[in-house]
Amino acid sequence: MAVREPSRRDIGWVAHAHMSPIAGVTGGATPAAGGADASGLPEPRPPPDPASSTNEEAGNRKVDDNGSREPDGTSRAAADGWWRSAVIYQIYPRSFADSDGDGIGDLAGVRAHLNHLAELGVDAIWFNPWYASPQADAGYDVADYRAIDPVFGTLGEAEDLIREAHALGIRIIVDVVPNHCSDQHPWFVEALATGPHSAARDLFWFRSGRGEHGELPPNDWQSIFGGPAWTRTKNPDGTPGEWYLHLFAAEQPDLNWTNPKVKEEFEDVLRFWFDRGADGVRIDSAALLMKDPALADYDKDRPPFPHPVEDRDEVHEVYRDWRRVADSYDDPRALIGEVWLPDAQRFANYLRPDELHTAFNFAFLGCPWEARALRDVIDMTLRVHAPVGAPATWVLSNHDVPRHVTRYGRADTSFTLDFRQLGVPTDLALGTRRARAAIMLNLALPGSVYVYQGEELGLEEVEDIPDRLRQDPMFFRTLGENLGRDGCRVPIPWSGVEAPFGFSPRDAAAEPWLPQPAHWRDRTVAAETGDPASMLELYRTALACRRGQASLGDGPMAWLAAPDGVLAFTRGPSEDFACVVNLSGAPTEVPVAGHLLLSSGPLEDGLLPPDTAAWLATGR
Ligand code: NOJ
Repeated sequence: MAVREPSRRDIGWVAHAHMSPIAGVTGGATPAAGGADASGLPEPRPPPDPASSTNEEAGNRKVDDNGSREPDGTSRAAADGWWRSAVIYQIYPRSFADSDGDGIGDLAGVRAHLNHLAELGVDAIWFNPWYASPQADAGYDVADYRAIDPVFGTLGEAEDLIREAHALGIRIIVDVVPNHCSDQHPWFVEALATGPHSAARDLFWFRSGRGEHGELPPNDWQSIFGGPAWTRTKNPDGTPGEWYLHLFAAEQPDLNWTNPKVKEEFEDVLRFWFDRGADGVRIDSAALLMKDPALADYDKDRPPFPHPVEDRDEVHEVYRDWRRVADSYDDPRALIGEVWLPDAQRFANYLRPDELHTAFNFAFLGCPWEARALRDVIDMTLRVHAPVGAPATWVLSNHDVPRHVTRYGRADTSFTLDFRQLGVPTDLALGTRRARAAIMLNLALPGSVYVYQGEELGLEEVEDIPDRLRQDPMFFRTLGENLGRDGCRVPIPWSGVEAPFGFSPRDAAAEPWLPQPAHWRDRTVAAETGDPASMLELYRTALACRRGQASLGDGPMAWLAAPDGVLAFTRGPSEDFACVVNLSGAPTEVPVAGHLLLSSGPLEDGLLPPDTAAWLATGR
């Protein structure tokens, strides 16, 4: 199946809303099932020395003090932006580690497990929203952008966490949610209280309804989570009032970005977190901020251009202003966009030198596990990033999509937001083998790499969560038609042989907020540690190896001639590193001479088996 440049139907929240010897290989023993070849690998990162942490104010610290380290000890970030090569670990705070036994993860839980991330060898952590929130959409409904939700902890704990992570050489990225806030945000509460045509209502999209008594929504737009994108308010006297726009849940009113107060507020929010040492922000729904003020019905048969809510040109001005804020720090902060767009060229517009630094590569995430398709999407990615000088990103999973171990075990391995395939048969052994090869592919490609918590343990999508325990608004707003995203958000298993697997303390008052499968006893951090065949040891080894290879991360790559179904490429100006991935159905010779550094599974009679990846030092 050939890759397609993504089409509007293929990708994007808004589309979902229906708005539209191995030959030549020498030396190096192949690590059994992905274990380390000690001779081919660098020494692991030295244990962190908290005393080496900077004494400067977090907001003004210099890049060299805490940057990720090159093998020679210099900071990669000093040479070029750290985000160009970083491995960034995504923490979904509700599900990472629960310190107080309420069944929900928290910041103290993260702090207690920072050593797991240091041992894994990641360069940065991105936190999903940790702000004060009624949690109608797991924190993407923010009531106070400058406070930590009590369920997670306190602002003081967040500041301590940032300091502790920095001391381990790990940078911190916080999630900023600018398209909408919570219906409990003081601005929205005031807007409801003050009534039509008030300054407070102009911060949102309030409109009168259509129909004789205003009983119909102002237009026919649908929420991305299902159902209408408008909810009617009640006047203070209890009579039906105006409607307000929410592209997501009703508890997430959309902000009006044509109002200068909105712009000022978010620049201040950025500074608030940057001053506390955050090294960057992940920007939620980054392409949706601007709306066509005409608010006309959406004609599906003749989709208007520009789109009424997605990727409007005006949005770029917002990010140019944000870039000025980010660049005003001695150690410039990184802006990372969640930009789901069908048009790769328009996607790249967000990465122009005076806008965002990077954006998630969802075209790659959704690509089927097929050599031709992957090669095409890799080429397309590099082609559109090059002219704007931005690094590519490589992403396999996140908190919005079914875990890739499950996706890669299905008959159809592609993914789009409206093609989730939850409940279709999957071969987890096959998915796991492919996931092992996939992370080696990602880590070898030019740019930065995202790791979603739990993928380093090989966790699969949990598809049998009982309906009564589901929490995702997508499930409720589609009346269960779409099972939503809970299955990739199940709490992490750390240790032990039964739930909560060390996620919560032994004497926890509550069970984990979503149930963990019993067989995850074999998927805990403790169970996988030291097992050379485990996913965790593969990730640890591969990250350590990547860190020791100067040619990896940002920089040149070149395809090598390879048999059908096999991807093979070199990295670096001297092509001294090669990655080979066999996506064909049969064992293959490795089409490049070199010393084997690592493979995602054992080689068989010197051949690379199907769904297996190998890294080689070519000696060039
Ligand atoms: C994208 C986030 O990744 C998703 O989890 C959230 O529900 C929506 N934006 C709305 O904020």
